[in-house]
Amino acid sequence: MELDQLRQQALAELNAVEDEAGLRSWNSHYLGKSGALTQALKRVGQLPPEERPGYGQQVNALKEALLAAYERKKQQLHEQEIARSLAAQALDVTLPGRPVLRGRLHPATQVMRDILAIFAELGFQVYRSREVEDDLTNFELLNMPPHHPARDLWDTFHTTTPGILLRTHTSPGQIHVMRQYCPRPIRVVLPGMCYRYEQITARSEIQFQQVEGLAIGESISLADLIGTLQTFAQRFFGGQRRLRIRNSYFPFTEPSVEVDVDCILCQAGSAADTRAAEPSGPSSPCTLCKGTGWLEILGAGMVHPVVLRNGGYDPDRFQGFAFGMGPQRMAMLKYAIHDIRLFWGNDLRFLEQF
Ligand code: DAH
Repeated sequence: MELDQLRQQALAELNAVEDEAGLRSWNSHYLGKSGALTQALKRVGQLPPEERPGYGQQVNALKEALLAAYERKKQQLHEQEIARSLAAQALDVTLPGRPVLRGRLHPATQVMRDILAIFAELGFQVYRSREVEDDLTNFELLNMPPHHPARDLWDTFHTTTPGILLRTHTSPGQIHVMRQYCPRPIRVVLPGMCYRYEQITARSEIQFQQVEGLAIGESISLADLIGTLQTFAQRFFGGQRRLRIRNSYFPFTEPSVEVDVDCILCQAGSAADTRAAEPSGPSSPCTLCKGTGWLEILGAGMVHPVVLRNGGYDPDRFQGFAFGMGPQRMAMLKYAIHDIRLFWGNDLRFLEQF
């Protein structure tokens, strides 16, 4: 009788519970350590021995029932709570949070790192050289005396200090390395920003990066230069790239060459007969190489004896090769980017593609 009453009272009270606090106090009142059920169980000892097992079972059954009712009520309260909070404030706390934007390396940095990594594998160390140069190192020591017409190739930003300018190319770094390492052999790449006072167009910018290469030793030939560039082109552009070496002129190299790689888009340059690379037939010419089949990638040559001497090396004993390339131009070819201004334009729509 007593247990039945207890059951009814407990369930009625549970039914009336409205919140978690009420549920907790109900729980400790009935199911807790000194709760009603524990008390009821303790009374077993006062009963005559033959009634004890039956009574014990009843208490345990009641305990199970109350526990189950408690769990149901708990779940019900939880659901009510969610429904209430959803109704009260239209904030869905179970929605995933906003993703944190992750930064990434600028495409120019990525390409620069790719290039330097390839040359590192070929044994070239990175040598950093200043961006603010003097006229002497940017031009004169590279075999361009004042009034040399080749200076016209580079429109220059001069500072208000006479003779001090922003380097127009990375080549003056050659002089710095040579003077530091002479008479030891050299194998370095010189990456960095260059500046030219030019009109800004889709193909030219007032600032751009270059990677200069320089190797000096006692038995270095044009074949070493070509082999190095061939390996580089294959690694950078992928596949079996072919190079085309054209005669050219730079004041600081003799002989001087310009180097093309066969067009990575239409590959017309790698056709067996390269003359077939002329724009042919009515089909529109390749947008990348304009139908020529070749892409110009850099200037290079054997270091001019005057430059070697200016760097401290005896040109009768030492030879060297040098090259200069523009990573932005390389990236434009590799990823078919049509406008060099995109690199420093800070447009996320461009930057996020890399
Ligand atoms: N300095 C040249 C330029 O800016 C590029 C260049 C050509 C660098 C030939 C070299 C070289 O080292 O050998 O146009």
